[in-house]
Amino acid sequence: MTKRMAYVDKTNGNLVASHDDNGTIRHTAVNKNARSDIKKQKPSVIWLTGLSGAGKSTIANRVEKRLHSLGYHTYLLDGDNIRQGLNCDLGFTDNDRNENIRRIAEVSKLMADAGLIVITAAISPFLSQRQFSRELMEAEEFIEVFVDTPLEVAEQRDVKGLYKKARCGELKNFTGIDSPYEVPVNPECTIKTLEMPADQAAETVVQLLKKRRRIL
Ligand code: ADX
Repeated sequence: MTKRMAYVDKTNGNLVASHDDNGTIRHTAVNKNARSDIKKQKPSVIWLTGLSGAGKSTIANRVEKRLHSLGYHTYLLDGDNIRQGLNCDLGFTDNDRNENIRRIAEVSKLMADAGLIVITAAISPFLSQRQFSRELMEAEEFIEVFVDTPLEVAEQRDVKGLYKKARCGELKNFTGIDSPYEVPVNPECTIKTLEMPADQAAETVVQLLKKRRRIL
């Protein structure tokens, strides 16, 4: 049976992303469970969302390092890196961001099918994008982590100098300035970066994976 996942742009009704699950991916001789079983882990997608400069990449790297040192097989998909290759044709309009996230979600799904623990670090500013990504994965696989840093703090840090450019109009559609960030409604985990150093944040995520029996 075909299960179709889709979502439309609220403002104009255009189709933003869709995925037809007609079961073809399941007909491989070696399946997802077989692939993940030999790694003693459950395929998972740890989806980090938050403002630019919130600390997503820092936490993502520490989560991966920790999991790797424990012997788990991971892969980190970082928005900044993916935009240099697979998504180098995309900018920061709503449509381009939707396509950016759709591709990251589809790649995550394939990597989860490979049995991996995937960590993504992308702003993914819209609720509908994250809901689409969640529905693409199996129940329990998708773990949304809200990296919660107040805009004032991210802007003050301004590690890449982009907030400054956005404020003086040199950079358009900047998240938090003239493009929205929709705060997660029910994330599996919220990390308040002002209250928790990155190592502790990473440990919190690893403990959550244990609690949910994604790792032993
Ligand atoms: S997303 O919105 O489509 O999820 P993504 O995480 O891939 O964004 O890329 C965000 C990174 O691109 C930021 O951390 C920043 O370095 C850079 N960037 C450049 N222009 C913008 C912009 N207009 N808005 C947000 N980030 C931008």
